[in-house]
Amino acid sequence: MALCYNEEMSNEHPPHHVPVLLDSVLSLLSPKAGESYLDLTAGYGGHAGAIIEKTKNYKDSMLVDRDDYAISHLSSFEQHGTRLMHSDFVAAAQALVQEKKTFDIILIDLGVSSPQLDQGERGFSFKRNGPLDMRMDRSTGITAAELIDNSTISELATIIHEFGDEPYGLARKLAEVIVTNRPFTDTESLAELIKQHHRGRRSRIHPATRTFQALRIAVNDELGQVKTLLPLIPRLLHTGGRVGVISFHSLEDRLVKQYLKDQRDAGFEAELTVITKKPVDGATSDVHNPRSRSAKLRVAVKK
Ligand SMILES: C[S@@+](CC[C@H](N)C(=O)[O-])C[C@H]1O[C@@H](n2cnc3c(N)ncnc32)[C@H](O)[C@@H]1O
Repeated sequence: MALCYNEEMSNEHPPHHVPVLLDSVLSLLSPKAGESYLDLTAGYGGHAGAIIEKTKNYKDSMLVDRDDYAISHLSSFEQHGTRLMHSDFVAAAQALVQEKKTFDIILIDLGVSSPQLDQGERGFSFKRNGPLDMRMDRSTGITAAELIDNSTISELATIIHEFGDEPYGLARKLAEVIVTNRPFTDTESLAELIKQHHRGRRSRIHPATRTFQALRIAVNDELGQVKTLLPLIPRLLHTGGRVGVISFHSLEDRLVKQYLKDQRDAGFEAELTVITKKPVDGATSDVHNPRSRSAKLRVAVKK
């Protein structure tokens, strides 16, 4: 499994968030003057800024993020009339369906932002010490420390195996030492313990990378969010509207690929036409941005 953006890469680019696959996003979503835009993972507004620069339509644009810190950095859009929503994208999409809102362009750029990883106090980082939190939305849900405290060895092993792609035997071993040594309050002590007990394949990445990714995916129910969101998308698009989804690891890309395949197979009942036969691959299409290395972009158009 390709790992999503990880801390091994975060030293290679400036601390601000560089939007991934920006040229491909602009050419495939082809924003035009006056069009409306919904960004369901607005982050720090990198893609949003570039798209709204083309549509020149702040008022019919909307930016969603479950991270209050990200939302607080989007006020310049709000000053121009863009609606901001601090919410997970499933709740946001459900509310917009209720409101019968539709858009010309939707973008979903999954995963974490660079600032989430770079700030130790967010608790995503095994390099910068901080409380073991990992919630994208700090106002709700359980932290990674609480998840560890409330899980059995088997549950934790399954998380590390399925969401971190560690072999089951190693995942089980790590789960055992984590449970034996809990509670954990900070990221560094967990990372150090994993480093001591990680007897797996030799790799260039830090031994805690996969376990941290697994905990993050579980804490934020990342796959559940994507699975529930995808079928709502056609209801949020005008006819001819475009949706782009950027994923960073094979678990989320598999969900997107399967959803679009089901659309392709649905014949006359399909609501979307897939325009990327193969995903745009960040490793070859956006070589200057290290964050794009594991990114995959898929685009579809509402029939
Ligand atoms: C890769 S960053 C997006 C960066 C953005 N495209 C930019 O150019 O600045 C992903 C963002 O999506 C948010 N996010 C991830 N999953 C989410 C979800 N289920 N609901 C809402 N926001 C989510 C994260 O908080 C993060 O800010």
